Amino acid sequence: MTEHIIWKNSQLHLLDQRLLPFKKVYVKCKTLQDITRAIKDMTIRGAPLIGIVAAYGVFLGVREILRRRKRITETDVNQVYQALKATRPTAVNLTWALDRMVKTYLQYRDSEDLPDFLLQAAITIHVEDVENNKKLSQYGSELIDDGDVILTHCNAGALATGGYGTALGVIRAAHESGKRIRVIATETRPYLQGARLTAWELHEDGIDVELVPDNHVGLLCWRGLVNKMIVGADRIAANGDVANKVGTYMLALAAHEHNIPFFVAAPKSSFDPAVKSGHQIEIEERPGDEVVVLQGKRLTLKGVKGRYFAFDITPARLITYIITENGVMDKPYSKYIKLLFSV
Ligand code: MRU
Repeated sequence: MTEHIIWKNSQLHLLDQRLLPFKKVYVKCKTLQDITRAIKDMTIRGAPLIGIVAAYGVFLGVREILRRRKRITETDVNQVYQALKATRPTAVNLTWALDRMVKTYLQYRDSEDLPDFLLQAAITIHVEDVENNKKLSQYGSELIDDGDVILTHCNAGALATGGYGTALGVIRAAHESGKRIRVIATETRPYLQGARLTAWELHEDGIDVELVPDNHVGLLCWRGLVNKMIVGADRIAANGDVANKVGTYMLALAAHEHNIPFFVAAPKSSFDPAVKSGHQIEIEERPGDEVVVLQGKRLTLKGVKGRYFAFDITPARLITYIITENGVMDKPYSKYIKLLFSV
């Protein structure tokens, strides 16, 4: 797969996901502002990747300050933290990565090698994410059978993570182990992550993929044309409720109605044990224009307003299993999530 996040020549090179799959353009980030812009404007997206890129953002923010003056204070670091935290509110991987970076700062604040330690910490977060994806994908692939037709939503692939992917990682691992599978990808309006990113990733890997409009899920279940569903997560509450790309809830309802196993694949960094249930998860609302104007083309009359909630909540009871790098979680999720955070 085309590399989508590269640290080179003291800059972070990010593959611009808004232009995929037709154009491969890298956005170079040298400053904190370059990073906050890249996250806000969707140059990059996907919960784990947002966290990784934000970690590099802490390093770049600190480097900028240290170029202007000798010392960096806790207040400076807090400002960098807040600027990054304000980019997108739903993915908990963002604050998880920022907290890890702050820990590194606190540990090495008196060292003149502080920037090196911060850069190394960001690289480690990146490398560990890929390792964790591969681990959880191995566990998840055991739930996939030869001949399965698997439906997925949005993009929880290599592009949404440090590499390999979560939901698509499970699909990849099943394919690599020789299982013959077919994937149905929903378009995922309005950003079309399914059409542009998931279909591209799977097609590049030689995995049979078919694209459907988002509104086909009910019919596909009704006709018995899907026998498993798998998605990623932006935040998992202590009770197992899952925030993921808007539309996930409808998928889970349809799966439940038709007795189709519904899996969520996510690393530990996507869990937020401090949040009791999905009701407390902040759902990002993006400008309505992102619905009304699709890839530069207005879909309806001027003056018609749009509304776009970027995520929804799928209640834990609709989820068959949650797949993590520590293994596959069954219900009651609250018990196993507690255990996950006690190790
Ligand atoms: O708005 P996006 O593209 O950042 O939303 C991405 C998703 O909803 C993914 O499913 C989720 O982040 C999991 S990625 C492994």
